[in-house]
Amino acid sequence: MGKLTYSFLVVCSFAAAARAADDDVVADFESADYGGWVATGDAFGAGPARGALPGQMAVDGYLGRGLVNTYLNGDRSTGTLTSPPFEVSRDYLTFLIGGGAHAGRTCVELLADDRVVRTVAGEDSEHLAPFTWDVRDLKGRQARFRIVDQETGGWGHVNVDQVSLTDAPAQPPVGDVPLYQEAYRPQFHFTAARNWLNDPNGLVYYKGDYHLFFQHNPRGVNWGNMTWGHAVSQDLVHWRQGADALKPDATGTMFSGSAVVDWDNTSGFRSGDEKPLVALYTAAGGTSAESKGKAFTQCLAYSTDAGRTWIKYAQNPVLKHVRGENRDPKVAWHAPTKRWVMALYLDKEDFAFYASPDLKRWEHLQDLKVPGCSECPDFFPMTIDGGKAGSDADARWVWTAANGRYLVGTFDGTHFVPEPGEARRVEFGRNYYAVQTYSDAPDGRRIQVGWMNGGRYPRMPFNQQMAFPRELRLKRTDEGLRLFNTPAREIELLHGKRHEWSNLTLDPGGDNPLASVEGELFDIEAEFEAGTARTFGLDIRGERLAYSTTERKLNALGSAPLELKDGVLRLRVLVDRTSLETFARDGQVTLSSCFLPPADNKRLRVFTDGGSAKVRSLRVTELKPALPALETQDRAD
Ligand code: FRU
Repeated sequence: MGKLTYSFLVVCSFAAAARAADDDVVADFESADYGGWVATGDAFGAGPARGALPGQMAVDGYLGRGLVNTYLNGDRSTGTLTSPPFEVSRDYLTFLIGGGAHAGRTCVELLADDRVVRTVAGEDSEHLAPFTWDVRDLKGRQARFRIVDQETGGWGHVNVDQVSLTDAPAQPPVGDVPLYQEAYRPQFHFTAARNWLNDPNGLVYYKGDYHLFFQHNPRGVNWGNMTWGHAVSQDLVHWRQGADALKPDATGTMFSGSAVVDWDNTSGFRSGDEKPLVALYTAAGGTSAESKGKAFTQCLAYSTDAGRTWIKYAQNPVLKHVRGENRDPKVAWHAPTKRWVMALYLDKEDFAFYASPDLKRWEHLQDLKVPGCSECPDFFPMTIDGGKAGSDADARWVWTAANGRYLVGTFDGTHFVPEPGEARRVEFGRNYYAVQTYSDAPDGRRIQVGWMNGGRYPRMPFNQQMAFPRELRLKRTDEGLRLFNTPAREIELLHGKRHEWSNLTLDPGGDNPLASVEGELFDIEAEFEAGTARTFGLDIRGERLAYSTTERKLNALGSAPLELKDGVLRLRVLVDRTSLETFARDGQVTLSSCFLPPADNKRLRVFTDGGSAKVRSLRVTELKPALPALETQDRAD
């Protein structure tokens, strides 16, 4: 008996070891043709290349004699090469990749159910380097591997070889660069230490701490397993990530919501010295195996230790399913009626308001349909022109949607009456969404955080970044009440060396006064006079922020209609490694966009085309990084 057990064990461990050593090769590109792979376009030819192609620099790093090389006919050729379906039989998929760094355009993709579930680009190098994806979440499923070349300009090709499934990858899946030192890590914008992030959640200030919860996938770099991640800052600039605060349970995964300080203990949750902090979130039923068949409901969690740990309320949900995928509760205190008010997203472009004396029992107040808007409503009081809160008959309530569009109106605790007209647009960039403001911020400040949705971070262990916090102000203008956005003044904590110019005349093709300044992180303030120019503006690492006097638009990774006042354009731009946030018209117009500038271009330029313009003043302030100190790094999962 003893002997039998022994030999059984030996057989098992041998089998496991043998399997680990023996990878499943999906393709080694050693044959004369592509076998069952399907090519489109003109970049692939009839079969694998043997090294470099005519006109190409030396190519190395591939295995054997053959590789896929889309430099066939130079950079201008394009196409795709897709594998037959194969089973994801191992924990990791590894391959060798070189070529262009155009995310999504010179890349490889893993497809499951015809959806792209992984993608990675080259690194502007002819060297093929190993890359690994953790594919445990796809194990047992059918997948296809696709090589994509859709780029015709410089580095418009991709090189690939040796696609294998393995249980023992030669290198770790996310590279061995230490956390926060990665090539595309934003330096003063919040990112999760690891893995996916989307909406800011539960923004609340209490006793010196700004809490930033966020939609988080603790298990991967793509959206899923929604959990509330948690970070804390004392200054809106330096963040420290702690343990996840709300994890999926049988009611669903944890979708977006908000948090407040319950100063008067209306909820009765207080148990010690600290005021209770109360979070309202959406339990997204039906989004996990555990919550299958359940509806989306609104739930409550509270903290009695100043936000360190969170307890889900035993009698959840506090608001039953209303309609569709109703979600994203945002709560505020209505002082005159001494009760809480909740803005909720219902479905399509429909929203609602509810009220509660204790954050637990909610009564329906009103529905609100807002064309052009959906998801993540926010609702908060503001005084006009910085007037005093409480005593000001001028106070208004501002409602915003996920895309930052806003309505200004009056609210008596029961009815919100917006001023007539459409929800007003502020944001014209490509990446600003799911905005939310802080509850209980000191000095009556109204600070908004947005998610820079859709930015690309090739090969990074994290995905997505928040925008830099903005301060909102409501001001009376000739056109009516308008919201103004400015970067939170705490950005000044990062200010370094400053370069200043004034009264410069800019001629087409003329000298670049900024030639001596190079870098990745800047706070720029510029005042231009259009003069006779057709376009003029700033060039930041090859990306143009250009005002067109003929189109009367500001084009800066996005396009905003903008009238100059007396021929003058004032801009404020925050430049981080992977994002540009541009503020125009004193913050009535913003363009927030992600970009992936070339590593070897750190140059700035002011320019004009088609006539002369003037730089009245230009101030370029270098910024210091605000990354977590290494010893304070906490694991995201
Ligand atoms: C907005 C959103 C929310 C939802 C969350 C899920 O980006 O779709 O409506 O609560 O993301 O992650």
